[in-house]
Amino acid sequence: MKRDTTVLLDEKRIFKPDVETVERAHVKNWENEIEKGKNFEAYWEEKAEELEWFEKWDKVLDETNKPFYQWYVNGKINLTYNAVDRWIYTEKRNQVAILYINERGDEEKLTYYELYRQVNKMANGLKNLGVNKGDTVSMYLPMCPELLISMLACAKIGAVHSVVYSGLSVGAFVERMNDANAKILITADGTYRRGKIINLKKISDEALLQCPTIETVIVLKHTGSEINVSDLSGREIFYDRFLEGEPAECEPEWMDAEDPLFILYTSGSTGKPKGVLHTTGGYMVGVATTLKNIFDIQKDDLWWCTGDIGWITGHSYVIYGPLLLGTTTIVYEGAPDYPDPGAWWKIIEKHGVTKFYTAPTAIRHLMRFGNKYPNIYNLSSLRILGTVGEPINPEAWMWFYKNVGKEKTPIMDTWWQTETGMHLISPLPSAHLKPGSATKPFPGVDADVVDEDGNPVPLGKGGYLVIKKPWPAMFRTLYEDEERFQQVYWNQIPGVYKAGDMARKDEDGYFWIQGRSDDVLKIAGHRVGTAEVESAFVSHPAVAEAAVIGKSDPIKGQVIKAFLILKEGYQLKTKLIEELNKHVRYELGPVAVIGEMEQVEKLPKTRSGKIMRRLLRAKESGEDLGDTSTLEE
Ligand code: WTA
Repeated sequence: MKRDTTVLLDEKRIFKPDVETVERAHVKNWENEIEKGKNFEAYWEEKAEELEWFEKWDKVLDETNKPFYQWYVNGKINLTYNAVDRWIYTEKRNQVAILYINERGDEEKLTYYELYRQVNKMANGLKNLGVNKGDTVSMYLPMCPELLISMLACAKIGAVHSVVYSGLSVGAFVERMNDANAKILITADGTYRRGKIINLKKISDEALLQCPTIETVIVLKHTGSEINVSDLSGREIFYDRFLEGEPAECEPEWMDAEDPLFILYTSGSTGKPKGVLHTTGGYMVGVATTLKNIFDIQKDDLWWCTGDIGWITGHSYVIYGPLLLGTTTIVYEGAPDYPDPGAWWKIIEKHGVTKFYTAPTAIRHLMRFGNKYPNIYNLSSLRILGTVGEPINPEAWMWFYKNVGKEKTPIMDTWWQTETGMHLISPLPSAHLKPGSATKPFPGVDADVVDEDGNPVPLGKGGYLVIKKPWPAMFRTLYEDEERFQQVYWNQIPGVYKAGDMARKDEDGYFWIQGRSDDVLKIAGHRVGTAEVESAFVSHPAVAEAAVIGKSDPIKGQVIKAFLILKEGYQLKTKLIEELNKHVRYELGPVAVIGEMEQVEKLPKTRSGKIMRRLLRAKESGEDLGDTSTLEE
């Protein structure tokens, strides 16, 4: 990725936290905590003690079958018990657990006790359907309380959830549903987006024609659109009806620390999306510890992570992290700039949000409207800000720092992935910050920048970002594909986890993430695989072959540039361009933002027939083509 790296290399500014931030913090000395984390099994053992286990583990970490690491061996625990049940016996019982807000200004509050009852009803309903421990339940729902309730209900009874992001469309949906072998889908009539209602039911109806394993569909009336009981097929039932008469009590399943918790699909550089599988105990320890210490979650906080629950950010830090810590989490359904670009700042003022976690692309987007909107509102409740999803350019960092944080709130630039489950590289509030750097590995995490053979590269030089020791919230495998799991992540550089990012370390040991080293795109912070986009193009009758690369974009970070070989008789004219845009959107959804299409006669390939996207990228950016010896002609 070419964007802004020159600026990053020159960035020398340092920002220190104010005394109050440090005094309040759980961790008052960042460097000391990093030192403490070097005793890493003891560190992660201590952190696990903060959760309630039914039975304690025999061993913190089992490394006998690398890379199939096991954490908290033989420990027994239940996530929902820790995230919901245990709070109802405390002063948090009537505290708001979920504050749901949407772009129309509707609000709904669920206390821990109310959430407890709802989750139990859902859990009992699923059990009555015959859902057992280990079965998969899929969800295609908007950002709404019922999504959290459904996920927590699964975790309570030991079912594995597989959430499909509601911004993905038919083709992507089908692929993910079929891979997960789910029998049950929970979906909704629609979701609100920029004043419109996106009809999710229509998308799932179309997708379900190609999903043979689904036996039951639970349909939430969310936007209140006109679906009647008579419109439902024999296997469909309304969400409210489904819960009717279900008891509000349900015993938590005793889960082994290593029992699966969820599958979440993400794009890889080749082939079909990867079903990233997370397990229970280590995941809980990892997300609770990182959220607690990085965002310094305290009793009086109001937490808002704008990430969608359909992605890992939402799983770990909209639902599980905050509820495990017993805080209030905001669930927001809508866009940052609707009804106007002050929408988010208005919510921060109205509710007194204290910790606010968002994506660089949203900041760059809102930055376009200048400081007018953040200045209309009183944002003084904010104490810590955070970003995730892609490198943040120093300019956006500074804008966020000045106009939203008013130069008082530190910004936590958190680097992590669907696979890592939890933040791995990030400052703590007591750290000295450099705009554009995710700073250093979280205490108890061992990361480095190395060359292809695993040797550390000199400071200041770029290399592959790797993680050298296992971490609790690590994914355990790719669903039904252990071979790909080993091959993509563990067998590339001996003995370490290869993250798929390029990075460099500076003289202070700070990490500067430079973007992906593979063919994964980051479009508005969303992870999109080139292979998936290419197959969407090729499924159109006009396209013979397609190659896709990322093209830098000032707001979205990257958008798609597609090189297309068209079938005989087709020309890339306005009408076909429109049609292809629509087609790819239908297959993949609005995440696949196409910036440009170019008709070509040939694509650069290796002798074994693999497209050399590297050459396309170099040509596009006017850089040197590098080694072309493997090129076919
Ligand atoms: C990128 C999102 C720079 C990176 C949580 C990674 C980042 C990919 C940062 C994972 C950051 C995430 N700075 N790059 N703070 N955070 N990334 O799986 O390329 O959707 O590999 O998880 O996002 O994307 P994913």
